[in-house]
Amino acid sequence: MSIDIDVNAFQGALLTWYEENKRDLPWRENQDPYRIWVSEVMLQQTKVETVIPYFNRFIKWFPTLEKLAEADEEKVMKAWEGLGYYSRVRNLQTAVKEVAAEYGGVVPDNKKDFSSLKGVGPYTAGAVLSIAYEKPEPAIDGNVMRVFSRILNIQEDIGKAKTRKRFEETLPVFLKGVKPSEFNQAVMELGAIVCTPRSPGCLLCPVQSFCRARAEGIQETLPYKEKKKAPTAKEMAAVILKNEAGQVLFHQRGKSGLLARLWEFPNTELQSKVSIEKILKNFLKERWSLEAKIGDPVQRVEHVFSHLIWNISVYEGVLIEKAYPLPEDSRWLYLHEAKALALPVSHQKILNELIKREEGNA
Ligand code: ADE
Repeated sequence: MSIDIDVNAFQGALLTWYEENKRDLPWRENQDPYRIWVSEVMLQQTKVETVIPYFNRFIKWFPTLEKLAEADEEKVMKAWEGLGYYSRVRNLQTAVKEVAAEYGGVVPDNKKDFSSLKGVGPYTAGAVLSIAYEKPEPAIDGNVMRVFSRILNIQEDIGKAKTRKRFEETLPVFLKGVKPSEFNQAVMELGAIVCTPRSPGCLLCPVQSFCRARAEGIQETLPYKEKKKAPTAKEMAAVILKNEAGQVLFHQRGKSGLLARLWEFPNTELQSKVSIEKILKNFLKERWSLEAKIGDPVQRVEHVFSHLIWNISVYEGVLIEKAYPLPEDSRWLYLHEAKALALPVSHQKILNELIKREEGNA
């Protein structure tokens, strides 16, 4: 696509604005590739305000790439608890281990090597190589596609690979003759604080005069994106099962899939109309060979994922027969021990309520 836009003037207007308006964010303190990498992984699918405290704590716990490579996986998962999309951090740790082992601990500064690492897709590669190493690579995520869909009046579905390709081909011309770290972050910043999804602040926009969509008054209709299906709701039941020592049964989720390797209260989907008490009793018996007495419901928890909703009814239960040794993926834990593990947000809520109830009873 030819771009009939004065690229030089566009760059100048955007960069001047960025210089004056950029936010003071912790990952902007320096250009350490490890810190930039961590921040970019966190910022995928998570808002800046949410990321800031997580980023600061993560860097405190794992200040260098080597420290993260050597860290206990449980602690790394704990550092991510609540951020969601947990495969991001498992991939990050796998990748930094590879950097420590294969690249002497130095984050590769070329696309081929960096992109070969686990979890490093085109966005992360573009963002880290441009921000940390000043490589003229575009960093194309949803925000950047929104900004340029409007500037260039691109009406194609940004959810499609073909559209992304079009941006990959079009954007490099904007990186000529500027500092890539500044230019890419300026576009991100514009997308975050001016060129927002709804009610964009065109009157305050430094590149308003370059914007095709604004000229036609269609900025709010872009970017075009096909609607996602509404998330489906799953009815679930979870049980707080106590043994005679006052410990509670926890289970670690499998190695792959949703919330992989996080710890949770035993829980099952409710697929039939049989009483929940019976379902939970059978579940504990089949899964752990445990005989239990199930009490009353104590809590309802809803958790909305991008594609799925969990509606969890929480029950208390007590063990009525001495248990066999537990399988590897299950543990009897005191509540303070459970606090140290990484749990999905919905199960953190169950744990926190439980701790409150126990403190109230003490
Ligand atoms: N979103 C993604 N990367 C970002 C960055 N480096 N600064 C601000 N917002 C971002």
